[in-house]
Amino acid sequence: MEDMLQIQGVTVKELADTYGTPLYIYDQNALEEKMEEYVRYFQSSAFETEVLYASKAFCIQEVVRLAKKHHLSLDVVSGGELYTALQAGFDPQKIHFHGNNKSMQEIQEALQAKVGTLIVDNVMEGEYLCSIMKDQAYDVHVLIRVNPGVEAHTHEYIVTAHDDSKFGISIHEKEQLAQLIALFQKTDHILFDGFHAHIGSQIFEPQAFETEVEVMGQFLWDMQQTYGIETKCLDVGGGFAVHYTSDDAPIPIPTVAQTILRACEKQKTKYHLPLEKILIEPGRSIVAEAGMTLYTVGFQKQTPHRHYVFVDGGMSDNIRPALYQAKYRCAIANRMNEQKKIPTCVAGKCCESGDVLIEEADLPETKPGDLLIVYTTGAYGFSMASEYNRLCRPAVVFVKDGKSHCVVKRETYQDLLRGECTFE
Ligand code: LLP
Repeated sequence: MEDMLQIQGVTVKELADTYGTPLYIYDQNALEEKMEEYVRYFQSSAFETEVLYASKAFCIQEVVRLAKKHHLSLDVVSGGELYTALQAGFDPQKIHFHGNNKSMQEIQEALQAKVGTLIVDNVMEGEYLCSIMKDQAYDVHVLIRVNPGVEAHTHEYIVTAHDDSKFGISIHEKEQLAQLIALFQKTDHILFDGFHAHIGSQIFEPQAFETEVEVMGQFLWDMQQTYGIETKCLDVGGGFAVHYTSDDAPIPIPTVAQTILRACEKQKTKYHLPLEKILIEPGRSIVAEAGMTLYTVGFQKQTPHRHYVFVDGGMSDNIRPALYQAKYRCAIANRMNEQKKIPTCVAGKCCESGDVLIEEADLPETKPGDLLIVYTTGAYGFSMASEYNRLCRPAVVFVKDGKSHCVVKRETYQDLLRGECTFE
């Protein structure tokens, strides 16, 4: 049994026997620690602070409940995420609704639920919101998503004046922004608080966030000087990197939190900004490392160039390798101590040549029935899963203090047909 991987005191064999594979497994303690760490370290004597969990990374009721337990707020981007949050009993005042194309129905749903903050992504959305707010019975806070032209691509980041992103309004469109804010300010039930920006995903350099805050500081000052617009809130987004492979050295949470806050303090002092509140929106970095996917090994084969091992899931439960060439680590979970390793290509069972989970893993010789664990699949795995090839979506279990709990049941063949209708 020593050779068997355990998660929070539960062996993966027990989990596989109880719930089947493929299986999304979360170390609940690890997940809660991340939430707690963000709240603990994102504190400042100069500002009020707020940590929003970007629920798109993994949005199920149980995670929303944990976010609530640890006093996080929530970022949602659709009616479905909003519904999940509300069903989980999340305080609507602490929900921030994002999205570049919220439907009118989604906006209505958000207002009906009395969502605390809407992040307006473009001018048309802002104007639409103003046209309907007069009939509302409560005040909604509004942030405008701007695009600061700081693009962070993992290890590189650039500042650009060109902006073709589908998200947000460019900070160079100051006149347009000023007009929109003026409209907000004269519309009943809209409280304009400030700006939001998000510069990318899986960012390793603290300096990327310093640059973002510097650019935003200058922008806030410009808006104040030219148009008299005073900003209370600045939301700097998410994008904090996690450890997928040994090549990845993410910024520790205390460092990232303090880097952002210090950069904000610097800008506040430099430009005498009336900034009162700073927000961040981590998604991946809260859930990724706490999550793993357990597979059962099936057949294997040798080609002239590769040794393939096939597992019972693949791109249907983790699209990231196929979509982004994302890299992962894995192990044979029932023989953790075996020394002899051979280069192995771990491929899924979907009918698609690109369905390769790990191009080259060092694994012991495997046999059918072995358990293979892929690490760091907790973010954007379940949330981007599909039923491609009519594979049933896996169950999700949380493990804590020697006990496992199923939080999402495995889909059944019947579930696959659930939405289908017949017609004469
Ligand atoms: N805030 C905003 C406005 C965002 O657009 C995102 C992510 C986040 C926060 C959270 O970012 P995080 O901390 O999770 O990096 N499917 C891709 C990731 C897409 C991220 C989209 N926006 C992936 O699997 O890598």
